[in-house]
Amino acid sequence: VGEAEKRIAGEYAARLVKDGDHVGLGTGSTVKYAIEGIARRISLEGLKISGVATSTRTEELAGSLGITLIDIDDVEKLDIAIDGADEINPSLDLIKGLGGALFREKVVASLAERFVIVAEQSKYVEKLGTRSPLPVEVARFGSVQALHRLSSIEGVQKIDFRRKDGKPFITDNGNYVIDLWFKDGIENPAKLREKIESTLGVLTSGLFLGMATEVVLSDTQGVRVLERSER
Ligand code: 5RP
Repeated sequence: VGEAEKRIAGEYAARLVKDGDHVGLGTGSTVKYAIEGIARRISLEGLKISGVATSTRTEELAGSLGITLIDIDDVEKLDIAIDGADEINPSLDLIKGLGGALFREKVVASLAERFVIVAEQSKYVEKLGTRSPLPVEVARFGSVQALHRLSSIEGVQKIDFRRKDGKPFITDNGNYVIDLWFKDGIENPAKLREKIESTLGVLTSGLFLGMATEVVLSDTQGVRVLERSER
């Protein structure tokens, strides 16, 4: 997918940040443009913000651009959080975590008054689970048993540990990620989330339901902003 679309969405979202905001900084190749946009506003407009990073990758990027970072436990709430997604449905429910940062992203999003998603429009789907696998972060201890428990969930067609360079992928929290593929997508995201997240060994799933307040979808022409009225 073109970098141009990602840049358009990211830079749009960077303009939503206000002076004095505590800002959740997501992870991925789209939100990278939002982080760069925020850094530019800091130097050009004298914007004052502090950021909470959702991954070591983002911490390094934001730090290198001169964004002040604070610890998640030093804030009670965030004014806004900006992040990417792997799938977005018409109710603005999401699959996230292909970048492996799902747990920290969910914690940060849960503290945010505005949770803004930036994505290019091919990630907009009628039904979740039709384009992307669903990532689930699990403890390493007993992870094979966790995989067996998750594989018995109805509709799961394929399930496997995420790998990177031939080795199991390890999250910033020292855990593994298991990816789940569904035969015909996810019929009932709320029910599925409940099942997965109550499985022993699971830290969290990539289902972000009822969390996004705005989704900035871009193509090469510009953006379309979808808003949730209640959450
Ligand atoms: C990382 C994520 C990312 O936000 C998601 O994978 C989208 O990334 P990109 O903008 O690079 O497509 O959830 O855990």
